[in-house]
Amino acid sequence: MNFPKAESFPQSTTRARSMGPNPLKLCEELLGYASVPTGSVVLDLGSGAGLTSALMAREYGFTVYAADLWSDPSDNMRFFEGCGLSNWQVVPLKADATALPFAHDFFDAIVSVDSYNYFGRDPHYLSEHLLPLVKRGGELLFAIPGMVYDCHDDLPACLLESWTAEQLDYMHDIDWWRDNFVQTDGVKIVGMREMSCTREAWDDWITCDNEYAAGDRAAVEAGALNYLNTIAVILRRR
Ligand SMILES: C[S@@+](CC[C@H](N)C(=O)[O-])C[C@H]1O[C@@H](n2cnc3c(N)ncnc32)[C@H](O)[C@@H]1O
Repeated sequence: MNFPKAESFPQSTTRARSMGPNPLKLCEELLGYASVPTGSVVLDLGSGAGLTSALMAREYGFTVYAADLWSDPSDNMRFFEGCGLSNWQVVPLKADATALPFAHDFFDAIVSVDSYNYFGRDPHYLSEHLLPLVKRGGELLFAIPGMVYDCHDDLPACLLESWTAEQLDYMHDIDWWRDNFVQTDGVKIVGMREMSCTREAWDDWITCDNEYAAGDRAAVEAGALNYLNTIAVILRRR
């Protein structure tokens, strides 16, 4: 696939700051399914080391709030400055997705790449914590690491090469996620689909030089991507 915006970042930067399958490519494909205009105020939820936040601020012209639990906002700010971005273009903060410090109806859109499955599996999460923060008519866009079909009752050996059954319980198929979202009033499911760039995003990730990427390599090499996908979710607040 073609990723002119994602590939505007040096490969060394992408490799150093990725925390999973290439988040820049996932984000560029995800935004291609949406209609978020330049100048929008966007929450990047579970922004990790800030790659997708920098992409959206620099390449899409959004004002981005980069909210993450595990990453250091000061380190992310230095990264944003290195990308030529100022503090009115991207705002780094440490925040828990279940206690977000924002006013209701604040954001034009919410984006979450490779993170929603950490906190969003609780079917009450969306209505109680996230949906009120986006304006009516605003989009919520998720790229969720998922399964082609839920196989938790009979996990393929290739998946167990790198992950435990408990870790794999964070991954589900499109039907499982649809059942999760339909439980929320006030949201329209605009679309859900398997993302096209999954395999190349994973290929980029397992060649990264860090212990987490190295840990995931065995499963991918054993055929895990026959069972794993990435699910693009486009929701709109009514
Ligand atoms: C696999 S990493 C992905 C990070 C980044 N989006 C990327 O693709 O490189 C998952 C991220 O989810 C974040 N996360 C997990 N639980 C969270 C929570 N309760 N609140 C906010 N962020 C959370 C972690 O801090 C971590 O950065």
